[in-house]
Amino acid sequence: MADYTSINDTPPGWYAGGLDHIWLPYAQMKTATPPLPVVRTQGSRIQLADGRELIDGVASWWTSCHGYNHPHIRQAVERQLAAMPHVMFGGLAHEPALTLAKRLAALLPGDLTRVFFSDSGSVAVEVALKMAMQYWINRGVKTRRRFVSFKGGYHGDTTGAMAVSDSDDGMHALFAGLLPQQHLFDLPIDDASDAALDKLLAQRADDIAGIIVEPLVQGAGGMKFHDAAVLKRLRAHADKYDLLLIFDEIFTGFGRTGTMFACEQAGVAPDIVTLSKALTGGTLGLAATVASRKVFEAFWSDDASKALMHGPSYMANALACAAANASLDLFEREPRLDQVAAISAALANGLEPCRDLKAVKDVRVMGAIGVVEMARIADLDALRARFVEKGVFIRPFGNVIYLTPAFTISPDELKTLTDTIVRVLSAGL
Ligand SMILES: Cc1ncc(COP(=O)(O)O)c(C=O)c1O
Repeated sequence: MADYTSINDTPPGWYAGGLDHIWLPYAQMKTATPPLPVVRTQGSRIQLADGRELIDGVASWWTSCHGYNHPHIRQAVERQLAAMPHVMFGGLAHEPALTLAKRLAALLPGDLTRVFFSDSGSVAVEVALKMAMQYWINRGVKTRRRFVSFKGGYHGDTTGAMAVSDSDDGMHALFAGLLPQQHLFDLPIDDASDAALDKLLAQRADDIAGIIVEPLVQGAGGMKFHDAAVLKRLRAHADKYDLLLIFDEIFTGFGRTGTMFACEQAGVAPDIVTLSKALTGGTLGLAATVASRKVFEAFWSDDASKALMHGPSYMANALACAAANASLDLFEREPRLDQVAAISAALANGLEPCRDLKAVKDVRVMGAIGVVEMARIADLDALRARFVEKGVFIRPFGNVIYLTPAFTISPDELKTLTDTIVRVLSAGL
């Protein structure tokens, strides 16, 4: 790893002593820029060990939608910690999980009413895939075991989730051909791509369990947007060929695209939805795979072999469920979706000057997601460091620079983020 001197100052003891034992995410450990030591977070601020404070443009991979350390969530977690941090969910149940399940069922569209809790987004996707395959097995159909997924899609880092992510273009390209074979397709964004998808389904529906898509925004695959018509087409295909439709709302859920769930913009409900990230307001790891009545009924039987055999040790963790309930309180009590609309307008306005820059390929905004797509970013590490020097935490990947701030970010903080992007790009990469 490059040495710490690239950051500044002397690192704290815990940092120097521990770094040699850490394996960092998405990093070539030999050459990776060392991570910034953080000691506190508050609102949209990240405080570093050397005293610097960064304005956060990422909200910790889009999780902390209410800003860091929101007092309402903190108090709920503290109360829960005193009563019961965790108890296994096999044979035992607790109020925070059951209340949360009921609230999620009430919030979600359609009859998505059965909630299976797990601990991360990738696992929620694994559960969704497993549920969909077993839905068919339980109905006596053994051949339907593949999924249709889409180019540019990303559904997580575990094996099943990697298999339905874009293997050609995505971060898991090394595994192409080694994972269970799926049908990777172009999103049906127009009549031609829709007809091509229909042709595949007409030929192969017998071996397909379901279709999985990130509704409206393909996030980690490049922050690519599509419109609501795509989701309507997918619902129509799923109905025509009797396939299960899975919406992965792990990125888009809880207001990020401007509505509580992205699929609301299409007026379409999936058969299974996956949720995580902002579910706990960025406080603790928690995920949910929520099944419609139709899916659940395929498991409802006197036959024990039709049960869903899944149960992570930390499923429905009580602290995480308390945080999630508190996060939902905040969506009810505070004007989050109005804040998202205001952020959307400020992002569009603030990033607009980037459009005139030569190296910029596209500028796009949806909800509280602002994207500047470059023709190419030659040195990601240098660009990330440039942002930190300017007092902001923005973490471009591939050829995109993006902002996914907390919905509680102040107009001044947001302006600093967009102005910094404009200034840094204007000076040339
Ligand atoms: C759409 C989507 N699905 C799944 C995941 C995986 O979630 P996790 O990182 O919690 O495993 C992500 C993470 O970025 C995501 O954006």
